[in-house]
Parts: sequence; structure tokens; C-alpha cells
Amino acid sequence: MESVTLPPIHEDRSALDLAAIRADFPGLNQLVHGKPLVFLDSAASAQKPRAVIDALSDAYTKNYANVHRGVHTLSQNATTAYENARAVGARFLGASSADEMVFVRGATEAINLVAQSFLAPRLTAGDEVLVTRMEHHSNIVPWQMVCEALGARVVPAPIDDHGALDLDAFEQRLGPRTKMVSVVHVSNALGTVNPVAEIVRMARERGIPTMIDGAQAAPHTAIDVQALGCDFYTISGHKVFGPTGIGLLYGRRERLADMAPYQGGGEMIQSVSFEGSSWAPPPSRFEAGTPHIVGAIGLGAALEYVSAIGLDRIAAHEHDLLHYAEERLSTLPQVRLIGTAPGKAAVVSFVVEGIHAHDIGTILDAEGVAVRAGHHCAQPAIEHFGLAATARASFALYNTRSEVDGLVDAIGGALEIFGV
Ligand code: ALA
Repeated sequence: MESVTLPPIHEDRSALDLAAIRADFPGLNQLVHGKPLVFLDSAASAQKPRAVIDALSDAYTKNYANVHRGVHTLSQNATTAYENARAVGARFLGASSADEMVFVRGATEAINLVAQSFLAPRLTAGDEVLVTRMEHHSNIVPWQMVCEALGARVVPAPIDDHGALDLDAFEQRLGPRTKMVSVVHVSNALGTVNPVAEIVRMARERGIPTMIDGAQAAPHTAIDVQALGCDFYTISGHKVFGPTGIGLLYGRRERLADMAPYQGGGEMIQSVSFEGSSWAPPPSRFEAGTPHIVGAIGLGAALEYVSAIGLDRIAAHEHDLLHYAEERLSTLPQVRLIGTAPGKAAVVSFVVEGIHAHDIGTILDAEGVAVRAGHHCAQPAIEHFGLAATARASFALYNTRSEVDGLVDAIGGALEIFGV
């Protein structure tokens, strides 16, 4: 009989070449407490591929200089690489022009920028900003800071017991006082994927500006801001396999042009005198001071890496992992999944009867399994389920079915330790 080489067990349904992808991520290849690392905390911050690490190293070692400020060769090269990364970001998000892309520290800074520079001058007492109850704190607190100063308020649209947005209730809360809609694309705590196109349509029909927090969407979902029709969209580099301290804000051209700067300093001006200063056009207007040059170049490399693999294939692989994890965890009656919205992304929040989420995190760590435990910076979402904390396993393109088995086995070990 002819011998046949079978694909590796457990991974045969993957749309990806997992061995090759895992080899791209040196951080995955290590022991933790003597056990092979099972990294299931990518929603907090993802591991970095060699392509990003090399881009950072090259940018520092071969072409490092300040950008937009030098006639010399290194500065020209650094400027080209920095602006190329902006163009990559525009393509990744489907923007019509690189001028609509502002480099920021991350989604948090982007939302603060929009709250301060766009919303604050347009807000009066009694106005409202509509968000959802599943928001990350970064899509609540910046709006609260602006609203509290001006006598306006942040209104949360409710979620159901699966963690899905109640879209009818959301629409009912859109009114003449709503001056901004800002919603998360993919919930970091629950994995819920919001119907952002529908949300933007509802808001635009009423002339309400929209912002989408895509920090958790970018590693898993193809994004097209023009098709969405949103005014603002943001991603964080570190969650999409790029460096920390860098992200992108997409702003519709006419919106950015109509906004005052967020911070003052070098390179954001047209002219400066003691009588007054004038601003450079966007996006420079919003990038005061020396930017995170190398971070931006690394982010460009990360977006190219993800795009080359293909977000559709990544999403298919992660959905396979999600369904496998749900199936395996359903065999443990002590485990309750938190966030079961239809079509959700591969973020598995859970609680284990009789064991605190932080204890689960610690016991799993002893087995080499990294998960996050806590409220995931989304306290209102977790409190909706009557909880203060969950454990959260979050999957990325490099995770495998074997790692799901590792997670389930480690939870089984915790059950034995606690006798539940
Ligand atoms: N927002 C990050 C998380 O979900 C840090 O863990």
C-alpha cells in the first residue's frame, strides 16, 4: 500500500501554514515554567513576527535619522520609510489617501485626540455621546472627560446576555442631542463583533459623526473605512503584531481639515510668531514633535505581514480555533463562557465555578498557558454579567488546536487542585 503523509494531527482544518507562521514568531518558541509556552493573550498584546523585529532593527541600524527635517541621505531615507508606512496604513484600512492617516500612540490616544480636537468644540450642555456597554475604558473615559467639562454626558447602549449589542435600543438612543457615536468594532472582553456598517448608517442618516475603535478588529478582520462610511477609525500597532506605542487614526479628510491640533510643537505648524501661529495641513497638524519614527516603520511591516497572509484566511483559522475551544470547554460543566454573541471573534472569556479568575490565570501560567484575568479594561461589560473578573483566552493567527487542548487540560488541572 502506498504510504501517505498526513497533515499534523489537530491542525488539518487550518487555512494557514501554521508551522511556517509559528516559525515567524520567535517569542512563541520558549519554555515557561519548564513547559512549552501556549500564548493565549494576544488580545492584550500580540507577539511580533521576525519581519517586524527586522524592520525595527534595520530602521535603527541602517537608516536612522529624524524625519521631515533633514536634507541629508539618512533623513531622506527615514522620511521615505515613515511615509511609506503611512501609505501602507491607508491601504490596510481602505482610506482614500495617506493624508487621512495620523500616527498616534495607539487607539487610546486616537480617541482622546478626536474627543478633544473634534468633539469638544462642537459640544454644549445637554449633548450626548452614544457608546455601548461593551466598550473598552479607552472608548468611555476620553468622552467622559470632555462631556463632564461641558455639561454633556456619555450614554451607553445596552447589550444582551450573550454580549451582543441591542441594535434597536441603540437606534432609540440616537436623538437630536447625540453629537457623536463611538463604538468598538470587536469587543476585547467578549469577542462580540458589532454591526459597525449598520451603526454608521444609522448615525449618518441623522448627521451624527462616527468613530470606530478597531484596536481588536485589525488583527482579525478586513477593514474598509470607505465602505463603512465612518468619520474616524483607529487601530493600535501592538495588537496587530506591530510595536507598542504606535497606532493609526483614520480621519475623513474634511473632518481632519476642520479640526484644531491636539498638541502643539514642532512640525505641526505652518508658521510661528509671537503674534500667533498657524497650523500645517493634516496629518502633520496632529503629529507634533519627533514622532515614533521606528514604531511607525515597524507598524507598516506588521500590516504588510498580516496582509500578505490574508485577513480572510486568518479569520477562518481563528473561527476554527474558537469553535474547537467552545466545543472542548463545553465538556467542563464548571466553566461558563462570558460573551457568546453570534459571529463573535476568537476571544474566549470565561469563569470557572469556585475558582477566582486570577487563580485560574496563575494556575494556567504554571502550565505555560498565558491568559489574561481581570476586567480587561471593560468594567461595565464584565459587570453586565454580574462579575468583577473573567479569565480570557484570546487567539491569534499563530495559535493551534493543540494549544486549545493545552488550555483545556490546564483548566482541568485547576479543577482538580480546587476540588470542584
Ligand atoms: N486592551 C487590552 C486587553 O484587552 C490591554 O487586554
